Amino acid sequence: MSTGKRRPLVVGNWKMNKGPQEADALAVQLKVVIQDYPAVDVGVAPTFLALPAVAERLKHTAVQVVAQNCHPEVSGAYTGEVSPEMLRQLGVTWCLVGHSERRQIFGESDSFVGQKVRGCLRAGVLPILCVGETLAERDAGQAEAVVQRQLDAGLAGLPTDQLASVTIAYEPVWAIGTGRNASPQQAQEIHAFIRSYLEDRYPPFVSRSMRILYGGSVKGSNAAGLLGQADIDGALVGGAALTRDDFVAIVAAAHQRGS
Ligand code: 13P
Repeated sequence: MSTGKRRPLVVGNWKMNKGPQEADALAVQLKVVIQDYPAVDVGVAPTFLALPAVAERLKHTAVQVVAQNCHPEVSGAYTGEVSPEMLRQLGVTWCLVGHSERRQIFGESDSFVGQKVRGCLRAGVLPILCVGETLAERDAGQAEAVVQRQLDAGLAGLPTDQLASVTIAYEPVWAIGTGRNASPQQAQEIHAFIRSYLEDRYPPFVSRSMRILYGGSVKGSNAAGLLGQADIDGALVGGAALTRDDFVAIVAAAHQRGS
């Protein structure tokens, strides 16, 4: 368990919701209200199609722009894909990598996810590496082994000085979009496991500074309990990020922790 205090980060993953106009409308609301929570880093992840409008709207504001996915390469014959370099040109700060929906629905392998992490860092985009076990894996007692395998591949080959630019998001698949969040203790257990994974392998500053977010049915009503845990440094929010008040309630809980 870590006693270090890291600045909280809350990211809203809008998934395949909100076209450019709706996304811009929410960005307009958020850019004003988020100013009230200076102790928190906040980001929103619209669809690729809405990224230009949202990036323009949030330029020079406290809300950072996040991409939901990328391809590892800089450019080339990869129909339908977007490179980290293109995201950087648009002003994107973070990029989700290896979200469980990408792994499960689109068959992304651990090693492909690792390539994306390295591709983001090459381009100067900060990766948020998503890890987490399915219900069957948890029931089989394999939660830690699965997370370890995903971390091994996701962080493979990174020089130590680049590790501090990576954020981890622990999202147990059984808690995503199900309304069934991990209890604060269940989440803390895996977060502490991830922290000790980092401690065992890298110099102390890595485990002390790297933020580990929790994701999976985070809401205003459960955010304080989750964010009160020693190793939970923020939240990756799906459904509750789609409306201003629900999202702001989570940011407010993170602000409490951070101030
Ligand atoms: P929900 O908050 O809707 O469970 O989604 C979590 C998630 O997948 C965020 O990336």
